[in-house]
Amino acid sequence: MKENQIFLDHCSTTPINTDVSSEMERTSAAYFANSSSTHALGQLAVARFNKAIAKIGQLMGGYSKREVVITSGATESNNTIIKGAYFSGMCQSFITTKVEHPSILEPLKFIEKFGAKVVYAKTDMFGKICVESLARLLEDHPKSLVTLCYGNSELGSLFDYPKLSKCTQKYSALLHLDISQSLGKTQLPFLGSGEVDFLSFSGHKIYGPKNVGAFVGKCNLLKQLTPLIHGGGQQMGIRAGTFGLPLVVGLECALEFVTENLTSHVRHYQKLSGKLQSLLIASDLRGLHFNSDVEFGLAHILNFSLKGADATSILYQFPHIFLSSSSACMGHKDGGESVLNGLGSPATISKGSFRVGLGVSSTANQLELFVNRLKEVSQNLQPEAASI
Ligand SMILES: Cc1ncc(COP(=O)(O)O)c(C=O)c1O
Repeated sequence: MKENQIFLDHCSTTPINTDVSSEMERTSAAYFANSSSTHALGQLAVARFNKAIAKIGQLMGGYSKREVVITSGATESNNTIIKGAYFSGMCQSFITTKVEHPSILEPLKFIEKFGAKVVYAKTDMFGKICVESLARLLEDHPKSLVTLCYGNSELGSLFDYPKLSKCTQKYSALLHLDISQSLGKTQLPFLGSGEVDFLSFSGHKIYGPKNVGAFVGKCNLLKQLTPLIHGGGQQMGIRAGTFGLPLVVGLECALEFVTENLTSHVRHYQKLSGKLQSLLIASDLRGLHFNSDVEFGLAHILNFSLKGADATSILYQFPHIFLSSSSACMGHKDGGESVLNGLGSPATISKGSFRVGLGVSSTANQLELFVNRLKEVSQNLQPEAASI
């Protein structure tokens, strides 16, 4: 990145941490052999892989290495869990909400075509699942797989985990949480509890490499999943193919980085989020409206709207500042639904919404520059459009 560039899109991806990339380079040179080879060099690579997945399992709350499956990212993890649970007969019904990430919603739509029952629980104004609605659905569909993001990718909302968990346990439902956005950004209340059946996550959201992620789950459940990818039987047959050892080591190191620094990172995000909110309020921007749950949501995500404005056009006028408008932040195809659309927000709010994703290297000075620029650009908007 150039010095004058300001990256405020850390929910879409994070730059790789330099210690992580150095360790990946070392691994690449020292362990180049195919881990499926039986010779000594192959076995060295297997040993390094086993060490990495043991560490990943431990950092994810005490899973053994046999309870960790490496994938290409959270999309593949979510697909493997959802399709694998359906096609193996583990679950016939699935409960989610309409505002989850497409990597949950799309595989659910896919299995529906093969006969799966998919039902949607209600949400509140921040996209948090309504546990009473979930309980009503579970009465009709006990033993479902409840599949949700803990940390909404557009708004940063977090649901009440203890309440939800009591409900899923009461109905003996299985619980899958995609923690791509919340891992390393907040204390996860379920880590180490053994209450969640599957957790999925991604390397590139936690200062690790792209194209690697994982899911963890209880051994007896993992073994039942029908694999997406069949082949040489690697990873207990759940996900065949020669794994990229440097990527796996990168995931391990990134997870160590965000775990060891969690307290200071959370403090940093909270401080900057407070600063950004004050700057926005003080700047007297027309039609300012906060879409995120600023009290209980993830501190590194702040979603706000300038009612009546066109956020995408405004962002085009910021060649050195990088962030997303809600309509773009989940990679929606034109006309696709954003979370705000899904929540029934009026078009004046959803079209005018910005998602700021703070990172460990974000600074108060960058936020000041961003808000000043936003003010300059929005002052040139048509007053009638900006004041709706
Ligand atoms: C909640 C959530 N799940 C899944 C994904 C997809 O992750 P990956 O890019 O690793 O497939 C993302 C990324 O945007 C996300 O925010």
